Amino acid sequence: MIGDWLDIGSVDQIAPGNARTMPVRGGREIAIFHTLNNEFYALVNACPHKAGPLSQGIVHGGVVTCPLHSWNISLKTGEALGEDKGCVPTIPLRVDAGRIYLLREAVVPGKLAAATPAKAAA
Ligand code: FES
Repeated sequence: MIGDWLDIGSVDQIAPGNARTMPVRGGREIAIFHTLNNEFYALVNACPHKAGPLSQGIVHGGVVTCPLHSWNISLKTGEALGEDKGCVPTIPLRVDAGRIYLLREAVVPGKLAAATPAKAAA
């Protein structure tokens, strides 16, 4: 799988329940998550609340809990869950033959939209 998809490495580089970051020159850092259910997701590495580093959060189910103020963010949608409101951009990701691919156009600097600002006072 090449062309529109950017090969960012082996699935083995991220242990289940963990994340790694990928810098984007001139763009926003991306966090790639590996869940305990063996699913992979990619989000901009900035919580919609106050830009906490989601890659350092706790991954549980399809959710990451932000390390700064414990908002729960859906890995699938980037939406804050529960009472909290806000959304962080997701990056389309595929796994094929043990390799992780991100949609190339989503990684291009300037293509990643800003996170939807948080609306809840917390
Ligand atoms: S910055 Fe993530 S919960 Fe506050």
